Amino acid sequence: MYNTLIAQAGLADRPRKSRWPAKLDLLQSLTGLFLALFMWGHMFFVASILLGKDTMWTVTKFFEGYYFFDKSYPGIVSIVVACVAVIFICHALLAVRKFPISYRQYRTYRAHMKSMHHEDTTLWMWQVWTGFLMFFLASAHLYQMMVWPQNIGPFGSGDRMWSDGLWPFYLVLLLCVEFHGGIGLYRLAVKWCVPNASREFLKKLKWGITVFFLILGLATLAAYVKIGIEHQDNYGEHYVPTFANQPVGEMN
Ligand code: HEM
Repeated sequence: MYNTLIAQAGLADRPRKSRWPAKLDLLQSLTGLFLALFMWGHMFFVASILLGKDTMWTVTKFFEGYYFFDKSYPGIVSIVVACVAVIFICHALLAVRKFPISYRQYRTYRAHMKSMHHEDTTLWMWQVWTGFLMFFLASAHLYQMMVWPQNIGPFGSGDRMWSDGLWPFYLVLLLCVEFHGGIGLYRLAVKWCVPNASREFLKKLKWGITVFFLILGLATLAAYVKIGIEHQDNYGEHYVPTFANQPVGEMN
């Protein structure tokens, strides 16, 4: 009966539409949501330096399992970084599908964007550019964190920012991450969750979150740079918390 109806309607020869684009879109949104939420946590953990070197040292040791095993295992951090890196790569690969694939396509989009004066269309272009930059910057950062997790700590991170000269790198990464993540979450909300919510309200919320994390990130960056400058003559030396008389496990 169903087949007869299909045949009568002349639909029998039509190829069935693939569900893959929708599935890939959902996967892109889910990986993006995970990364955005991860970054919120990451920004607070890294910002623990604003509460003092001892606090950041304690957070670092927590992630190395020190409070569970009575010994530090920086390899645990490497495993977590590897998992985040896999999700990051999946997200980037899924996003590449939507990039303009030729200069001609790019020019057409830009012309369209300029003539429309539509903020969401402009935001999308910002997301493409920040995402493109992060492909290189975040990959380099993740590689460092995965291969040398033992160098994370008040002095290790401060030295990296100042003596290793990485603060400009982190500054650009911070700007990219906050704009990309903020716009991404806004687009997710518009796309999947709150179709009737006022876009104006969502935009204000998005800018509020972006500004908050930018200020937090800049203050954090400044704190590491200050430590790096103060510590440059003792580059490479690991931090010993004020409450310990002798080195505890692998200190940084
Ligand atoms: C599990 C994975 C990650 C770990 C363990 C990690 C760890 C760290 C640490 C320890 C710092 C302080 C500076 C340093 O020691 O070099 C830092 C800074 C930073 N990380 Fe990550 N990170 C991870 C993933 C990411 C990802 C995926 C991104 C972005 C795509 C990112 C973006 C940043 C930025 C922007 C800063 C500078 C923060 C600021 O100025 O407040 N990180 N990260």
